[in-house]
Amino acid sequence: MSRTKNLSVDEMYGDWQATKEHPQSEYERSLNPRSSSSLFDTVASLGLTNTARVLDIGARDARYSITLHQLLGCKVVAVEPVVQNVEEARRLVKESGLVDWIEVRQGSIQQVPAEDGSFDLVFCRDVLSHVADLRAALQDSCRVLAMDGRMVVYQTFGTDQLEPGETTRICADLAVEPSSLDRDHFEREAKNCGFAIEAVDVIGSEWREAWEEDGTHRTSIQLLHAARLIRAEPQLRLAMGEVPYRVELANAMWGIYQMIGKLEPRIYTLRRASDGKTVLAQ
Ligand SMILES: C[S@@+](CC[C@H](N)C(=O)[O-])C[C@H]1O[C@@H](n2cnc3c(N)ncnc32)[C@H](O)[C@@H]1O
Repeated sequence: MSRTKNLSVDEMYGDWQATKEHPQSEYERSLNPRSSSSLFDTVASLGLTNTARVLDIGARDARYSITLHQLLGCKVVAVEPVVQNVEEARRLVKESGLVDWIEVRQGSIQQVPAEDGSFDLVFCRDVLSHVADLRAALQDSCRVLAMDGRMVVYQTFGTDQLEPGETTRICADLAVEPSSLDRDHFEREAKNCGFAIEAVDVIGSEWREAWEEDGTHRTSIQLLHAARLIRAEPQLRLAMGEVPYRVELANAMWGIYQMIGKLEPRIYTLRRASDGKTVLAQ
């Protein structure tokens, strides 16, 4: 977004008013944003078959492990550190009748409970924001991948529009590691850990625009919630409790920041190109 000289009142009311006369302003037309299923288009483009070995790391309730199985027809290992999530994932997998296809294990991305070289794809959606030791996370992901295996990472990064105070608050309230917002850091560490960056897909506000246009209205609802949470802060903080209040507000701001370009989600396709330990030793 360019911030140049101040507009004069004449320019502002004159030039701006003139555009109001066009019934269909450029920005009133859809820019045809991709929906969140574009993440699975990326996975589908890798050419994996039903014999692929797939790891869903930081799987939460395994909902995307199920999607990955449905997409590829293969077995999926779902790994998640939080006990309640592991239990919920096992329940969901059982309820879906997929116990022969999806195995849920407790573990973390820094210490994946799996043998070396045991996967063709590591799917990592919205997890690395919480990880302080990115190098350990990427090294262990590299370890469990077969040579030339891929890691698909969906991750949100900060842009130069994100102010320092906003970074501090949002990281504190969403247990986000501030360094995870730095995409140069991510790209450097990925290469250090033995990955080649095969593709970078900037999602930006696209998924959120799609949710507005398809009637889900996810971000405009978050905006309304943020307004209420801010205006009635003392009452709501007390009624909801400190932690839920902070998380709800910060989560709403996370969505709004993605929508207005302060945060930028991206999809990275990484390929295991070497043993990360060898690269680091050079
Ligand atoms: C925002 S949720 C995303 C969950 C799921 N991947 C999705 O896209 O719906 C972040 C997940 O990462 C998990 N997580 C946090 N730290 C982790 C770590 N060190 N290793 C693996 N998973 C972690 C959390 O427990 C949570 O399930």
